[in-house]
Amino acid sequence: MDRVAAIILAAGKGTRMKSSLVKVMHPLGEKPLLYWPVQTAKLAGATRIAVVVGHQADRVREYFAADATISFATQQEQLGTGHAAASARESLAGFTGTVFILCGDVPLLRPETLLAMLAAHEKKKAAITVLTTHIDNPYGYGRIVKRQGGRICRIIEEKDATPEEREITEVNSGIYCIEAEFLFRALSGLKNDNAQGEYYLTDIVKAAADENRLCLSFPTSDPEEVMGVNDRLQLATAAAIHRSRINQALMLAGITLIDPATAYIEAGVEVGADTVIHPNVHLSGTTVIGPDCVIEANVSIRDCRLGSGVTVKAGSVLAESTVGDGAAIGPMAHLRPGSLLAAHVKIGNFVETKKIVMGEGSKASHLTYLGDAEIGSGVNIGCGTITCNYDGVKKHRTVIGDNVFVGSDVQFVAPVAIGSNSLIAAGTTVTRDVPPDSLAIARTAQVNKEGWRLKKRD
Ligand code: UD1
Ligand code: CA
Repeated sequence: MDRVAAIILAAGKGTRMKSSLVKVMHPLGEKPLLYWPVQTAKLAGATRIAVVVGHQADRVREYFAADATISFATQQEQLGTGHAAASARESLAGFTGTVFILCGDVPLLRPETLLAMLAAHEKKKAAITVLTTHIDNPYGYGRIVKRQGGRICRIIEEKDATPEEREITEVNSGIYCIEAEFLFRALSGLKNDNAQGEYYLTDIVKAAADENRLCLSFPTSDPEEVMGVNDRLQLATAAAIHRSRINQALMLAGITLIDPATAYIEAGVEVGADTVIHPNVHLSGTTVIGPDCVIEANVSIRDCRLGSGVTVKAGSVLAESTVGDGAAIGPMAHLRPGSLLAAHVKIGNFVETKKIVMGEGSKASHLTYLGDAEIGSGVNIGCGTITCNYDGVKKHRTVIGDNVFVGSDVQFVAPVAIGSNSLIAAGTTVTRDVPPDSLAIARTAQVNKEGWRLKKRD
């Protein structure tokens, strides 16, 4: 039995974003704005979520298509918040519990706040509970009008308010808990005879008061939670608050952030204790970083798993890769998807890897491309080594056994296999397999023509 459902209003275009992208799909913390109220509703127990879409409805639907909790209601014309909520009637057919009403452009609401509001709402058996906040400059918000005893008797919009009502500093956040049966009944009776000619959701408060039903306000002392995003300035402000919440939790868990203002860590990324994160680092996706690591400046890591004591030096980019304990990456290294590096591997500057396995303690310290390769342990890859993995049609593999020493400027024309303990001389282009314990050398003998320069000059 579903006890709690949610309606999320997200039909508006967001004109002030000045964007070809609908407002609720603008990213905040690597996810669309709308993702956050959806998540908050779920964490507060909503098992059915109706999202009211209008502008770019297809785009919104597509992003959330795999989420079975969500159903969509289309509001063709944006005739007001009351009309928007009424559009969700079909989506929530048969539901008789409590409905959260949230806004798709209010991303910082905490599930704890919603849960506390729900508890107060249920305890007092209210018809409507409104999340409110006190602000010094309430311009533009709906004001909370109360009777003696603290019950709300109505919410009045800025444009409809008298000068006395405009003095009220307790404002409507646009977030509510409402009894489902009352909500849909009251929405049917809404009129649009107001200054904006809109169907105001807020008018159902007066309807409840007229029926002598209880309307409560639930004030939050943190206005950040109810902050709406209307333009890109507010988007940047909200994103900074979102990041600071994540960063504070990490620091309290024992991670050092050299400059928290420039640590861009996505929610859900895990970092072990005593890891140090330098400025301008981006950690995203399913990334898990072990303890005692150092992540230097300007590093970007997406969907990676790093062991303990790993150093990632400045300017490196890592994606969909695994790095073992005590490994050192960079500066300016590029681990592309499928790089599986064992403990104590060293990848130096201007080294690019893709789809490789590299065994314990192996090194590629400078200027190298390793792709589609299986490299054993204790291998030294010299400066300028290239696995020539692509013949223009297909990719081929290079296999290098344990303890192989690869000199500088070597090309492996794959497919090719090198037996363990062999040495590949500098400048060699390897085109055939090399047996174990061998020396492979393939370069033209050097010729010195003495006095050649002097003759040229004459
Ligand atoms: C609304 C409240 C106001 C409150 C304020 C808080 C009403 C009448 N007023 O005002 O009391 O202080 O929020 O931010 O409810 N939307 C639709 N369809 C529509 C209209 C709106 O989906 O037809 C969506 C918008 O995309 C937005 C949300 O509802 O996410 C709120 O709409 P908005 O126009 O910002 O409401 P306000 O007029 O600011
Ligand atoms: Ca508005």
